[in-house]
Amino acid sequence: MYKIAVIPGDGTGPEVVAEGLKVLEAIASKKGFKYELANYDFGGERYMKTGEVLADSAIEELRGFDAIYLGAVGHPDVKPGILEKGLLLKLRFSLDQYINLRPVKLYPGVLSPLKDKGPEDIDFVVVRENTEGLYVGEGEFINKGTEEEVAIQVSRNSYKGVERCLRYAYEYTQKRNKEKKLTLCGKTNVLTYAWDLWERTFNKLAANYPDVKTDYAHVDATCMWMIKNPEWFDVIVTDNMFGDIITDLGAMIQGGMGIAAGGNINPEGVSMFEPIGGSAPKYTGKSVINPLAAICAAGMLLENIGEEEAGKAVEASVMKTTTQLKSLSAGKMGYSTQEVGDLVVKNLK
Ligand code: IPM
Ligand code: MN
Repeated sequence: MYKIAVIPGDGTGPEVVAEGLKVLEAIASKKGFKYELANYDFGGERYMKTGEVLADSAIEELRGFDAIYLGAVGHPDVKPGILEKGLLLKLRFSLDQYINLRPVKLYPGVLSPLKDKGPEDIDFVVVRENTEGLYVGEGEFINKGTEEEVAIQVSRNSYKGVERCLRYAYEYTQKRNKEKKLTLCGKTNVLTYAWDLWERTFNKLAANYPDVKTDYAHVDATCMWMIKNPEWFDVIVTDNMFGDIITDLGAMIQGGMGIAAGGNINPEGVSMFEPIGGSAPKYTGKSVINPLAAICAAGMLLENIGEEEAGKAVEASVMKTTTQLKSLSAGKMGYSTQEVGDLVVKNLK
């Protein structure tokens, strides 16, 4: 019996999570595994009512689950940063979810904005470090509000943090078994402290994975290649900030935020799965948002808790569903949010 915590969150989060849970229920009865859900109402509404984003006691509770399923955070009436930092980043950091795993895969029938590129060209995974770098929130203002002001924002990269992320990336590349090629995406030519450590550790670990081919690309060049030659990539490993940026680019080449999912993974603890697009407030309650990203996130969750077959079946069903939709964009799918969820259930094998 798996225990899954559900945080539907803000905006369209609850709508897409409902479709993910619909698919979960269907695949569980097909494959014969059992689970129980616990709902948590964290998000903008609760914050405005109670002033509390996430209690420490809730974090302790969440440690007891097999996985967390998250919709979206971000509320138009809450100052930007409060929910992002107080909920999403707080969960990632306190649960030590040090990997952010983001597949970039163009599914059949989906129109990529990249001319002449098809599903065989766009199929790679970004391993983003998820607990360090510029996201640690260290820094200071000097002479704030004056013309002499200086704002300092620290990127913290510990050997342990870098090493565990790279080790995960090497192992993931081996296991993925596509081209067994791991690309380090950094900025060694300018950021000569952080990327010196990353590059040294990357090269040192390479000796332990003789079957993995290694490559390096600066982050700016990575953006260029992702557009021009996405077929060159198998697994990309990078830091928190670069990973944030290149995975939005990745989402666009795979057909948009309607399909992009990710996992915040603690290989030794509890992991959290989410569609990577935001809460899309303007579409809330209209049944026009695409639930496929949330459904893909549910598929990743299943693989993570050990229901690999179920996870693969969900992905296969999504890959059939994408051939049936007019578009992946909100309001243009040719179906409502709930109908897309129904299609995925129907297409499950
Ligand atoms: C993401 C988001 C978050 C991030 C924000 C909401 C804090 O953009 O998951 O990529 O920057 O990591
Ligand atoms: Mn982002």
